[in-house]
Amino acid sequence: MSTAKKEYKRITTKTLVDMKNRGEKISMLTAYDFTMAQIVDGAGIDVILVGDSASNVMAGHETTLPITLDQMIYHAASVIRGVNRSLVVVDIPFGSYQSDPKEALRSAIRIMKESGGHAVKVEGGKEIKESVKRILNAGIPVMGHLGLTPQSIYKFGTYTVRAKEDEEAEALKQDALLLEKAGCFAIVLEKVPAKLAEEVAKSLTIPVIGIGAGNGVDGQVLVTHDMLGMTHEFNPRFLRRYLDMHDAMTNAFKNYSKDVKSGDFPNEEEQY
Ligand code: KIV
Repeated sequence: MSTAKKEYKRITTKTLVDMKNRGEKISMLTAYDFTMAQIVDGAGIDVILVGDSASNVMAGHETTLPITLDQMIYHAASVIRGVNRSLVVVDIPFGSYQSDPKEALRSAIRIMKESGGHAVKVEGGKEIKESVKRILNAGIPVMGHLGLTPQSIYKFGTYTVRAKEDEEAEALKQDALLLEKAGCFAIVLEKVPAKLAEEVAKSLTIPVIGIGAGNGVDGQVLVTHDMLGMTHEFNPRFLRRYLDMHDAMTNAFKNYSKDVKSGDFPNEEEQY
């Protein structure tokens, strides 16, 4: 019997650019823990995002703002232990990169060193340009995030579609070019009109990964718990549910409770 560990062809930032050039779409999903990361990676998803959506999904906060750098590092390190192939991108959380480029670099270095993540993601355009450059200069790959940027939710006031008006659309296009020029390897575009997203994707050489940004971009990302149907109350138009885990899990828990209470579980074969 061979004891050799199976070799995986790892996805790198270069793989993603090559995929864009070949016209091959990029798949990306979130994960925040070891078990989910193993399943997502094993299913062949190209990029795993340790999103600050962990603040909502894992911790039950209303926004992504409360999650800390230490908590993101904990989630990212758990994910990394479950991954053989996917590229793992880790969100730098709110308050850990906005005040100055040195702080941004320190946060990115902590993520890379303490979690083993492969790249970081930051929200924003020209206002964080110096921070992006500083992180990139240290050899850390950066993914940008434009459009609806949840860390700025109190500035926007709502989670509705961004950049519907010409002025905001123009600013978004400029920011996307700026992030590409600065050296970002990819950009997430969240909740913007499909036509604008396609235009941005066509104007850039780096991949644009959409969420609620239509089909004219280079890849798609969803929050795993949403696409599995675990979060019943979240129903944006862009979300396609591939399972109804909420109902499936509820039924399993009810059946377990019934079996425990009736004395059916454990039976003779389930004991020592
Ligand atoms: O935190 C997150 O899950 C994200 C995705 C929605 C892109 O940023």
